[in-house]
Amino acid sequence: MCIEFAVAKYPAIVRLRDGKECTVRLLQPEDAARFYEFLKAVPEEERLFIKPRLTPRLVRQWCRQLKPEENLTLVMLHGDRIIGEATLHQRPGGWKRHIGKVTVLTHPEYRGIDVAKLLVKELLEIAPHCGLERLEAELNGERKVAIRALYQLGFEQWAHIPGYLRDLQFRPHDYVLLGINLVTDEEYAAALG
Ligand SMILES: CC(C)(COP(=O)(O)OP(=O)(O)OC[C@H]1O[C@@H](n2cnc3c(N)ncnc32)[C@H](O)[C@@H]1OP(=O)(O)O)[C@@H](O)C(=O)NCCC(=O)NCCS
Repeated sequence: MCIEFAVAKYPAIVRLRDGKECTVRLLQPEDAARFYEFLKAVPEEERLFIKPRLTPRLVRQWCRQLKPEENLTLVMLHGDRIIGEATLHQRPGGWKRHIGKVTVLTHPEYRGIDVAKLLVKELLEIAPHCGLERLEAELNGERKVAIRALYQLGFEQWAHIPGYLRDLQFRPHDYVLLGINLVTDEEYAAALG
């Protein structure tokens, strides 16, 4: 596992579809206030994968206890403002330890200009360096935009269970599992001979 190597390139400059120049880097403890502002801007029903109630204190705590080997969060900044985040979640052990989970969120004012795709693409490059063989993303079946964006990045549907999820009002939603197989460092080295 060599996360240091994989993230040595950050901060990196990227250009969005509308020409905006942004910075991608790891989330840092000093980001707590701007990360909270970003998360607050995203409607609650869209950040359902964040289970606890969002408070500045909770976000400060997250940012103080960053463990990139478990949850590696990349943020995209436009100026001083966080406009997107993507996290690679890893399990330290167990039968899914070779499978990373991806979550991604874009600020509502910055959608449709490649923020999510650029961030997930970065995670696709980092993941093989972490010894991961697959990435997965769990979604509510109604998240068509997210599903399409992940398809475009090479993810495919691995499972679809109708009515499996419940929202805050206990209404049913479809569960969709998307995934992608990664080329690991070892396979890459073997292919190069
Ligand atoms: C899903 C989400 C991350 C997409 O973020 P984004 O930065 O707007 O996505 P991108 O611009 O990188 O690309 C998404 C694709 O969907 C399109 N798109 C984005 N918003 C759209 C909208 N409201 N309607 C139609 N298409 C849309 C983009 O144009 C792009 O497609 P294209 O390349 O064919 O034009 C964002 O909508 C979001 O944060 N949703 C809530 C959280 C969520 O569902 N996360 C995923 C589960 S982990």
